[in-house]
Amino acid sequence: MRHAPMVITIDGPTASGKGAVAQAVACRLGLHYLDSGALYRLVALQAMHHGYTFDTVLTGTQEAQLAVWARHLPVVFEGDLILLDGVNVSAEIRAEAVGNMASKIAVIGLLREGLLERQRDFAQAPGLVADGRDMGSIVFPNAPVKVFLTASSQIRAERRYKQLIDKGFSANITSLVADLNERDARDSARKHAPLKAAHGAYVLDSSELTLDETVEKLLQHYAKVVGLALNELPVRSGF
Ligand code: DC
Repeated sequence: MRHAPMVITIDGPTASGKGAVAQAVACRLGLHYLDSGALYRLVALQAMHHGYTFDTVLTGTQEAQLAVWARHLPVVFEGDLILLDGVNVSAEIRAEAVGNMASKIAVIGLLREGLLERQRDFAQAPGLVADGRDMGSIVFPNAPVKVFLTASSQIRAERRYKQLIDKGFSANITSLVADLNERDARDSARKHAPLKAAHGAYVLDSSELTLDETVEKLLQHYAKVVGLALNELPVRSGF
């Protein structure tokens, strides 16, 4: 019998540290990694390149166009590089304006459906760590390990501030807190796949934890679920 690849889902609000934690866990266990937010950001960037703005009230035709992009955008993930139509947009999609646009268009059910198969295609042997908002609830509902990672909005704003400054963007903590709260409210209140802990998810608050401590707790949980001791997990070089 062919076994489905192992899938670990890590969902949570914006800037909860999901990305860094999911990448570290994937690297430690030698699994593939899916940053589903990047797909939403890529569709948002495409829309912005076509003149859609955050304040645009979308028509039915525009929503249908977004769904077409979701299904067919020529995107390549190459290590840390993300190419859209052959152009490296890895840094550009991280701008707050693109994140806000992604959150705005993520309410569209047709667009979410368009991204569904793309996301599921990442579940290849030996397994996948997928981060997002609905990985455990909608995209991989049968994943054996589901995590909901959260942190206070002040801590998340501080982490996002550091990320943005490190990437050369300008940022302001007060407006970041307001932005995060607004984005959380939009992601949580939407009709399709709202942000919430999946049934049976391990809820982990990382406000008081370092990245390494958070990864360690997650690996402990993973080991427990798969019935191994922590020291029996595969050790990858470079971790
Ligand atoms: O994780 P992120 O900040 O890169 O995601 C950007 C936006 O994309 C987020 O505010 C909501 C949307 N998103 C989503 O709706 N579902 C996902 N699985 C991932 C992201």
